[in-house]
Amino acid sequence: MKARLEEIKAQALAQIAAADSMEGLNAIRVAVLGKKGELTEVLKSMKDVAPEDRPMVGQIVNETRSAIELELDTKKAQMEKDLREAKMKAEVIDVTLPAKKSELGHRHPNTIALEEVERIFIGMGYEVVEGPEVEKDYYNFEALNIPADHPAKDEQDTFYITGDILLRTQTSGVQVHEMEKGKLPIRMLAPGRVFRSDEVDATHSPSFHQIEGLVIDKNITFADLKGTLAEFAKALFGEQTKVKFRPHHFPFTEPSAEMDVTCFKCGGSGCRFCKGSGWIEILGCGMVHPHVLEMSNIDPEEYTGFAFGVGLERIALLKYEIDDMRLLYENDVRFLKQF
Ligand code: DAH
Repeated sequence: MKARLEEIKAQALAQIAAADSMEGLNAIRVAVLGKKGELTEVLKSMKDVAPEDRPMVGQIVNETRSAIELELDTKKAQMEKDLREAKMKAEVIDVTLPAKKSELGHRHPNTIALEEVERIFIGMGYEVVEGPEVEKDYYNFEALNIPADHPAKDEQDTFYITGDILLRTQTSGVQVHEMEKGKLPIRMLAPGRVFRSDEVDATHSPSFHQIEGLVIDKNITFADLKGTLAEFAKALFGEQTKVKFRPHHFPFTEPSAEMDVTCFKCGGSGCRFCKGSGWIEILGCGMVHPHVLEMSNIDPEEYTGFAFGVGLERIALLKYEIDDMRLLYENDVRFLKQF
């Protein structure tokens, strides 16, 4: 039996020395020390040993077990140390590598242009207000003097949600919301997103932005409109800018006009930018139609007003000399960073 124990020990130590993985080492532990292991089998034959020899044999068994356990633990610790070292080596950090750049965002040209327009009008005492993008037919058309069968309704290809609810095609409806509040006088600027069922191209998009302006007070005349918008043009495009008003038609203003500014590229002599004319159209405007005032419970005998509508993208494209509106919607940081 002693010889058998010596044999088990020698064999186990040789196997442990040769083991090259944690799994291998565990298998040896189970095969030798486990419940059905070799050493346990030997213990079962203790009953055949003469009683007086049992303490001695027992001691040898214990010594064998301890020796094997010690060897297993030492080898295990060694293996874990080797693994850790290998891992550390593989994980070496090269501090000389260039760092990843974190890209900063950038304000959109639309935002920059809008903030500039707002700054100009706030300086003239205007309040910036907002209205809903999902709108009732009444506010988008009816209350602006565009009744059901009016051709202007077809001009603005409308996205309808129901027969009566639509995505606003213009910010002009905010005028009505403000007038309905019943607080006079009004000096408001209403920027916002509008929607029209248009195909995307260099100058069109199904969704774009307008800035609406409305002034209502006693004794407001066309001279106030001209003076205000001329000041606006100078503040936006430079002191040398001149304006000109061309008669136009909008259902909710009478008289109505479109305003052109002298081309800020050539100063009015004509260039590629203004298509040779020296002028660039920037907004629609007019005196608020008496019927529009009446529908919102304002007495046109007592109060008058003017309104204007500017395309925000148009201002941004002009100011930053961008020739394709699609660039404004792609949000490529390399493009946006230039402004
Ligand atoms: N709502 C008009 C449009 O979308 C723009 C406009 C023209 C607004 C004249 C006005 C205005 O307030 O007075 O074409």
